[in-house]
Amino acid sequence: MSRSPSSASGPLSGRRVLLVVGGGIAAYKALDLIRRLRDRGAAVRPLLTESAQEFITPLAAAALAGERTHTDLFDRESEAEIGHIRLARDADAIVVAPATANMMARMATGHAPDLAATVLLATTLPILIAPAMNVRMWLHPATQRNLATLKADGVTVVGPNEGAMAEAEFGPGRLAEPHEIADALEAMLAQRAQAGGFGFLAGRETPKRLAGRHVLVTSGPTHEAIDPVRYLANRSSGRQGHAVAAAAAEAGARVTLVSGPVALPDPAGVTVVRVESAREMLAAVEAALPADLAIFAAAVGDWRPAETRGAKIKKDGHTPAPLTLVENPDILATISARTEGRPPLVVGFAAETDQVLDNARKKIARKGCDLIVANDVSAEGGVMGGLDNTVHLVARDGGVETWPKLGKEEVGRRLVARFSEWLAARPG
Ligand code: CTP
Repeated sequence: MSRSPSSASGPLSGRRVLLVVGGGIAAYKALDLIRRLRDRGAAVRPLLTESAQEFITPLAAAALAGERTHTDLFDRESEAEIGHIRLARDADAIVVAPATANMMARMATGHAPDLAATVLLATTLPILIAPAMNVRMWLHPATQRNLATLKADGVTVVGPNEGAMAEAEFGPGRLAEPHEIADALEAMLAQRAQAGGFGFLAGRETPKRLAGRHVLVTSGPTHEAIDPVRYLANRSSGRQGHAVAAAAAEAGARVTLVSGPVALPDPAGVTVVRVESAREMLAAVEAALPADLAIFAAAVGDWRPAETRGAKIKKDGHTPAPLTLVENPDILATISARTEGRPPLVVGFAAETDQVLDNARKKIARKGCDLIVANDVSAEGGVMGGLDNTVHLVARDGGVETWPKLGKEEVGRRLVARFSEWLAARPG
């Protein structure tokens, strides 16, 4: 699911929502809902039932969402491209709006004759439904029984509202307003996050996008010793690399973080290997392989003194001999070039002070990695050592995604979400 272009930074920012649209006259409001969710920073993937298509077109939904619309017909033809299991997993939440009486009955009984019902049966994501139907259908004991079952299953419900309805009737049955649905989604996600999980059924594990994967991350600067008290270093704080490692652990991965000297606490649930120099970092990275995903966020020193003195260099009243430097091994390039045991997805970072994208493209080619996270580290940006980051994701085919300025934690979370999508899309 591609990112929303919005730069909103509320609770839905960066969230991915699968919007299942049921049939009924209220389906037209789903278009407004797409717009509102995107305004709040969410990425929306629409899925239209056959009866929804009597009221709105897949094209209209796709145009507003900026995503392909899934429908039964299309997905039967292209099941190989994105299966219903992927649809059921590849989001942070599912919103069903409008949820018809028929759809509620299917959900409550586990009957899955179409794509929407199959996805809803196959998912462990949190689900929000916004029912909309004729007032008599809503008040019918069968619907009320289904409603109680769905609530007991952990489904969140918003609406229906009371008011004048299509068939000149009055009562509960109107679809909640799009802003109310968006508010309810925010509240549901906030509540789940507080409870420590996103499970749909009580007691089920949080769906972890990187469960079973080993993620290797390098972070921080390196220190290249001149003598026992002096070294060459750089301004990297390690914040971005540590944030990526923390986010990967939250996503269920086993994470090895190879870190240069930093003043940061170890991220929770991460195995941290501390190193000083570039050569130590390379050795620790090689020892940690194999990995499914390797992210090289460290600001590795390009050079080291040709010799490290065993004793402190004294002034002794004369000018010291000039420092001779030799090049350090390039860890990213070394791992990218491995024929055996190369991680399926190798991501580099590019710290640039000018021509950020051009240099990032050249760096991908030179280093042989799959993706580069490029950022502008010129002094004005305050990225080196700072709390925020503006990144550009540059792919090997030259494609670029530019994200708004975000906190490094948020960048870490979004990067992990994008890397999981790439990993899931790669064959094997
Ligand atoms: N990198 C590495 N080993 C090195 C140097 C860099 O693994 N010896 C990795 C960094 O972790 C980062 C990427 O290579 O993922 C690019 O780092 P950067 O400092 O931007 O690039 P350099 O190779 O140093 O290129 P230049 O200084 O010419 O911009």
